[in-house]
Amino acid sequence: MARPRTPPRLLKGREKPRHRYFASTPRGLEEVLLAELQALGLEECRSVPGGAYFEGPLDACYRANLWLRSAVRVLRIVAEFPCRDERELYEQVWKLPWHQHMAVEQTLAVRARLGRTPIGHSHYAALKIKDAIVDRFRADFRSRPNIDARQPDIQVHAWIDDERCTLGVDGSGWPLFMRGYRAEEGAAPLKENLAAGLIALTGWHGERPFYDPMCGSGTLPIEAALIAGRRAPGLLRGRFGFQSWPDFHAAEWKAIQAEARAAARPIAVPIMAADRDAAAVRQARQNAGHAGVADAIAFSTAPIESFQPLPQGGLLLINPPYGERLERNAGLAPLYKRLGDILKHRCTGMDAYIFTLHGELAKAIGLRPSRRHILFNGPLECRLLRYQMY
Ligand SMILES: C[S@@+](CC[C@H](N)C(=O)[O-])C[C@H]1O[C@@H](n2cnc3c(N)ncnc32)[C@H](O)[C@@H]1O
Repeated sequence: MARPRTPPRLLKGREKPRHRYFASTPRGLEEVLLAELQALGLEECRSVPGGAYFEGPLDACYRANLWLRSAVRVLRIVAEFPCRDERELYEQVWKLPWHQHMAVEQTLAVRARLGRTPIGHSHYAALKIKDAIVDRFRADFRSRPNIDARQPDIQVHAWIDDERCTLGVDGSGWPLFMRGYRAEEGAAPLKENLAAGLIALTGWHGERPFYDPMCGSGTLPIEAALIAGRRAPGLLRGRFGFQSWPDFHAAEWKAIQAEARAAARPIAVPIMAADRDAAAVRQARQNAGHAGVADAIAFSTAPIESFQPLPQGGLLLINPPYGERLERNAGLAPLYKRLGDILKHRCTGMDAYIFTLHGELAKAIGLRPSRRHILFNGPLECRLLRYQMY
């Protein structure tokens, strides 16, 4: 897979304390995430199902949160220990120096995910971890942090599997796909990180025209514009979890943001987005405005049946309607067949990708894809299908 264009590289300050991090991503985007981490100059990058590890000082975490397009969140790993049962979980968590990770006046939330473990329920595991942290603070400071499940200052994530527990503190806060440009949601919007991941899988970096003729709320063309303009997606957000960490370095964070602003460049490549639904197009235009890329995208209200690419061709990326319900999807088969016909008759010389559910709908397109990539959109097993229209 092509490496994404490099944003400014990380300065390697050997004297700074180093940490290990884990960035999560939807299944199927791990290699995209890995390439993004490597392009940022981050060290010891290694992908695993559902994400990738990397290492570095604190500014590595700031940079990752600011620049990663395909990630959901970035955690700083604070401990890994054996965990055979709930008693061991409590004892191991109690032993950790929690005052290094939060102040007693800050609010806390704990989330746990379980693989194979005798601890029966993730809520129960989270409760045990929370009890241990709170008890440790009480023992050391005669005071305890309050719990805030909705908007905590510090969020602890635990992953327990195979008699081991990995604990991380959340450096992102709100998930990174919440970029901050989406005002309202359309009927079935793609998550921003999935949209960016799909574009990365096509290898597009902004060198040829981009078309999304079923744009809905505009996620694909907006993410394409952010990529083409080398805009750091995190610049649009208000706040990140790491800003609540006791060792947060505001001046360093400001410098990294300034560097990211300076890296932006004008978007010269044509980006075209259309949908037959005028309300969706209005919304997409509004979202693009919030993302600061409205001028870079040519929006129009039109059915795909009237799609005409520019003479120079380019990349076509389509996210047609699909759903969880089989009967609705059966009704969509004629639309998919028309999509296949449009590719065949009007898209000669183009590189076309269709992102859809695995199964009958994809078959209705009636063309043989030259490549299939398996991805998960939430629980739905999907395919990014490539059609090279010679
Ligand atoms: C799954 S949604 C796309 C979601 C979009 N990627 C987003 O992130 O918001 C599919 C879109 O296809 C549009 N659509 C359905 N049939 C169409 C047609 N014949 N021509 C153009 N657009 C169509 C729908 O209005 C809907 O907005």
